Amino acid sequence: MLNEEKILEALEYALPVTLFDVTDSTNLRLKEMCRSGDTRVQLLCADHQTAGRGRLGRSFLSPEKTGVYMSLLLPLPKDDLPLTIRAAVAVCRAVEEVTGKHLLIKWVNDLFLNRKKVCGILAEGVEDMAVLGIGLNVKMPRGGFPGVPVAGALEAEEDREALIGRISFHVLKTLEEEKGSILSFYRERMLLTGKEITFMHSGQEKNARVVGVDDKGGLVVQTAQGMEILRTGEVSIGSSQVSAFE
Ligand code: BTN
Repeated sequence: MLNEEKILEALEYALPVTLFDVTDSTNLRLKEMCRSGDTRVQLLCADHQTAGRGRLGRSFLSPEKTGVYMSLLLPLPKDDLPLTIRAAVAVCRAVEEVTGKHLLIKWVNDLFLNRKKVCGILAEGVEDMAVLGIGLNVKMPRGGFPGVPVAGALEAEEDREALIGRISFHVLKTLEEEKGSILSFYRERMLLTGKEITFMHSGQEKNARVVGVDDKGGLVVQTAQGMEILRTGEVSIGSSQVSAFE
């Protein structure tokens, strides 16, 4: 079971914290709490999720006690830089602070270490707030991540509570931070800049070279038809995400 005191010690802010041994999805639980009137900025975590949710309707494998599965109920950012971009930066900062490990960002907000995805982020709207869900693989589960060859783990020795506390701290801080400094950190950590990628456009696969991200966090790409800015969705490199980083 996660220890609330240790989380609060690392977090510094006095946030309400709810901990579960097991739940279906921390994002679902927090959305439900918000809809039933508990709109406080708060943190909800679990040791294990039975129906962890990923982006684009995917699931997120959340084995017992090997990862961080956390959701924050937050106000929306005051400017036009999406919460997901802020969250990617916040997790990189927190992981580096706690473990010394240097993560890279695959647009929009997948975080990689040694060519493996170790963290996924899912932001969802609820009422006029956002639920920010973060799944971070801390240790490799005994059976690995079946069917997800791109998944890896930090293999960090530090407590999950320290990671949860510092991630929450850095997320809250980025909500107050002006977007220029967040964007410059994000750009330094980007995996895709200069790479050839493919993406789907109106049901068709298109090729492009990545130029960077614009001031609203959109991916700027050069195609044969000219410059385009991608705002949502996902891009791939080569035939699989893994081959991208060899
Ligand atoms: C992705 O990689 O597609 C996003 C994964 C997000 C997973 C986290 S784990 C905590 C929170 N609860 C969920 O059900 N999903 C997010």
